[in-house]
Amino acid sequence: MNAPAYAAPPAAEIIDAQVHYTRRGWPGRTATVRAVDGVSLSIMPARTLGLVGESGSGKSTAARVLLRLLEPTSGRVLLNGHDVTAVHGRELRALRRQTQMVFQDPYSSFDPLASLADSLSEALRGRAERGAERLAAAAELMAQVGLSPSLLSRHPRELSGGQLQRAAIARALAAAPSLVALDEPVSSLDVSTQAQIVSLLHSLQAQTGLAYLFISHDLSVVRRLSHDVAVLYLGRVVESGPVSAVYERPRHPYTAALLSAVPIPDPARQRSRPRIVLQGDIPSPSNPPSGCRFRTRCPWAMPVCAQTDPPATTTEDGVTTYCHLHSDGPRLAGESVLTLGDRPDTTA
Ligand SMILES: Nc1ncnc2c1ncn2[C@@H]1O[C@H](COP(=O)(O)OP(=O)(O)OP(=O)(O)O)[C@@H](O)[C@H]1O
Ligand code: SF4
Ligand SMILES: [Mg+2]
Repeated sequence: MNAPAYAAPPAAEIIDAQVHYTRRGWPGRTATVRAVDGVSLSIMPARTLGLVGESGSGKSTAARVLLRLLEPTSGRVLLNGHDVTAVHGRELRALRRQTQMVFQDPYSSFDPLASLADSLSEALRGRAERGAERLAAAAELMAQVGLSPSLLSRHPRELSGGQLQRAAIARALAAAPSLVALDEPVSSLDVSTQAQIVSLLHSLQAQTGLAYLFISHDLSVVRRLSHDVAVLYLGRVVESGPVSAVYERPRHPYTAALLSAVPIPDPARQRSRPRIVLQGDIPSPSNPPSGCRFRTRCPWAMPVCAQTDPPATTTEDGVTTYCHLHSDGPRLAGESVLTLGDRPDTTA
């Protein structure tokens, strides 16, 4: 008899998470900001989930919940299958070593007065006790991210942006985490340095089985690094699934609009693809539109879109979309929204 196969749990998961902030308004009024409003995300070991959406859509807030840097207003957080939503104090500090974050600007994430040796040694506390052991482990980490250990004596300002971002990745690896969240990690770097960092992240994942949450406004980079993608709009996921399926056949109008701005290397396909230009700004998360939150900017909005939240439609290729076009309206039922052309045929 074959031994039963046990599937590994997700490295990290949030289930129906909400983060609501109370913001003071004028005069003496308060408003509830729904930064994240019912988001579920799941990342398997050795996989990368790309998280995309306009500024203010809730990407960084969702990442901070996933890493338990922020307590959600409601919902659950699971790390390696353990519910850590209610964990606090020393246990939470220990848990936080399982997850690490790399930010956009490496210069502001390092102590300018500390050498790399000091910063990495600090991060290695708990893995190596003695100073000499920590220094040896720091040199190993430097080599792992493609930096010469001779740079350990340097201070942040004595390194290029690309070198320091590699050092930030080394520091994240110091705790031997199972998940690293990367919030715009390459957007401050030039194109060739970006490519080197993406290739480094790929090879580290292959070596260590790390899971990544990768946040970026650059959808081309997201495609290169991610296995799956989730598209956020005004604190909610509007579409998610395998990155190739979502990019080839966007089913949500918002995803199609975001992707229509991404250049395609094939000029013929580039010419034939419709460009969807979004009108207006993302509405305030303290006063989201009724029904579908995207309806005030959607070229295909229908009366039902103002009345009810769109239900989920999941297709065989694993893509889930929240849009009435797939259930009411023209019943796309998982087909690409681009098959509708500019003017939707609203006959059901
Ligand atoms: N501490 C806070 N208090 C009140 N509102 C907040 C707070 N933090 C975030 N917000 C609001 O929550 C919403 C989501 O913010 P968040 O930083 O998660 O967006 P984002 O998608 O990461 O944006 P960007 O792409 O600009 O980084 C925004 O409207 C933001 O103003
Ligand atoms: S539910 Fe309606 S408004 Fe929302 S994306 Fe779909 S068609 Fe547009
Ligand atoms: Mg952000």
